[in-house]
Amino acid sequence: MCGIVGYIGKKEKKEILLDGLQDLEYRGYDSAGIAVVEGKSLQNFKAVGKLTNLREKTRNYHSEGFGAAIGHTRWATHGKPTELNAHPHMGQYSYVVHNGIIENYQALKKELAAEGVTFLSQTDTETIVHLFEQYHQASNDPFGAFEQTVKRLEGAYAILLVSEADPDAIFFAKNGSPMLIGFDGEEIYFASSDTPIIGKAKEVYYLEDGDYGYVKEGKVHLFNQSGAKSYSTQPLPTDKALAQKDGYRFFMEKEIYEQSRVMGETMMGRVLEDGIRFEELNDHLFEGINAIKICACGTSYHSALASSYLFERIAKIRCDVEIASEFRHKEPLLTNDTLFITISQSGETADTLEALKMAKRAGLRSLSICNVDNSSIVRESDATLLTRAGIEKGVASTKAFATQTMVLWMLSLWIAQQRNTIETDRLREELDAMLHTPKALIVTDALHDRIHRLSKRYLHGHGFFFIGRDLFFPLALEGALKLKEISYLHAEGYPAGEMKHGPIALADSELFTIALMPASLLYDKVKSNVEELSARDATILAISPRPFDLADDFIQTQYDSHPMLEFFEMMVVTQLLALEISIRLGNDVDMPRNLAKSVTVE
Ligand code: AGP
Repeated sequence: MCGIVGYIGKKEKKEILLDGLQDLEYRGYDSAGIAVVEGKSLQNFKAVGKLTNLREKTRNYHSEGFGAAIGHTRWATHGKPTELNAHPHMGQYSYVVHNGIIENYQALKKELAAEGVTFLSQTDTETIVHLFEQYHQASNDPFGAFEQTVKRLEGAYAILLVSEADPDAIFFAKNGSPMLIGFDGEEIYFASSDTPIIGKAKEVYYLEDGDYGYVKEGKVHLFNQSGAKSYSTQPLPTDKALAQKDGYRFFMEKEIYEQSRVMGETMMGRVLEDGIRFEELNDHLFEGINAIKICACGTSYHSALASSYLFERIAKIRCDVEIASEFRHKEPLLTNDTLFITISQSGETADTLEALKMAKRAGLRSLSICNVDNSSIVRESDATLLTRAGIEKGVASTKAFATQTMVLWMLSLWIAQQRNTIETDRLREELDAMLHTPKALIVTDALHDRIHRLSKRYLHGHGFFFIGRDLFFPLALEGALKLKEISYLHAEGYPAGEMKHGPIALADSELFTIALMPASLLYDKVKSNVEELSARDATILAISPRPFDLADDFIQTQYDSHPMLEFFEMMVVTQLLALEISIRLGNDVDMPRNLAKSVTVE
């Protein structure tokens, strides 16, 4: 779970690396580092914490003329976030950066230590550079040594290595962690995703698992286990500008405001007057399918959970949802009349990707709902529905959740059409509600201001319960996750009807209950649950279109006729509440502590 950038060519290398790492900082920001090799000179800088520390440290360093350079931003997996554990890791005359986990690193380390190698860090990565130098010293063949090294590695990796042994080359390998090569004539770039090289490279090749090789004299020499391999490039996307902050204080805030607009894009060409059309899906995907299983993590899991109500209610198809990290190890019973759906904003979440590979091995057809085209999950799936949310930079996911949920809602209708489980009138109602969604997502000044003002009353206490029923239970889970991610306050999402079976024991005036009380779905049931909490003196913030006398605080929503419109409107309220509480607490909203945007380790 780290970001990698590499460059080989004549341009100033430090700025290319630092700018690239800036774009990847969402992948991890425990520490960052760069290494540059120019002829016989090897330079290396590292700093703990955010990239700005590395910028400061390299202020007086410039690297003109031909050379090879690699950089890394880290999210710690093995070893604490210290400078010694920061990448690039150093041998005697080489440097390596790595994203992923070398699972057999302890065995390798033992072997190297027995040969007298001293380790400076606690990382799995450092074994790579020592292994390389051992093989190189024995063979005097840099690429041969790299190839031998790669063959010894087990686990997931994207690796770049530079060495005085061949100062005009960058060695690379990819297996299970993302990496691409960007081209602009003889200038060659590497990165963990498109963003750092947009505006620099023109063409791109997305490395496949098992690819390795080296770049030298403007040429890529590519191999896999069958030997030399050809590759073809494709044009690089150009929409980096969309990832700027546009005057908002935080990317998360910008992304909350963007939801209304991007939802239009999610629906474009898909929501028609008389039904849903997905050009990406063919009817065969669904032939013989009697059940759906969805696997995802975090926010994507919440979206999955919400959709399970829609699949069963609208499409009349059984739908089970599982947390990917649990699914992977439970020896699940899978039958090939099940469509296996994965949901992932990044498309790189290791647990979700592995769950998908398991399902494929069991012979299931697979569909991914993803925001990043060409990501590992997309490439692994039989079919994909892109969410079209645009780059999401805030670690706390907002517009990705909204667009995932919309795609899943559309999919439930699409399947209902295939299975003839929906009446024409009901279909029209759903389509009509969909088309109103962008309006339900608009953030008005009045709403934001109100949430800003009341957020000051929610900075203490001994915890938050977000409660809701039916579709609003997954939304409660998501509201609680948003709050805890960026405020560091304890919050739980709970089914409102379940509070009386235990958690109500916690109720007192310092227990903050955020009650999701939609008018169009089980209003009276939720109301009684909230009344039970109010009777025990819990502090209630009610979110509902219907005024509620027992609330200590109340946010009145506008929509009251369709559960999904209420869902999206309340989602925005919970996102803004988390945002405002986090800002008041002085936290870094976009880069909350201990988290990374893309979790590419198990
Ligand atoms: C969302 O706010 C979280 N940061 C996190 O739970 C995230 O949703 C999860 O790691 C899954 O990521 P993915 O959607 O990229 O697979």
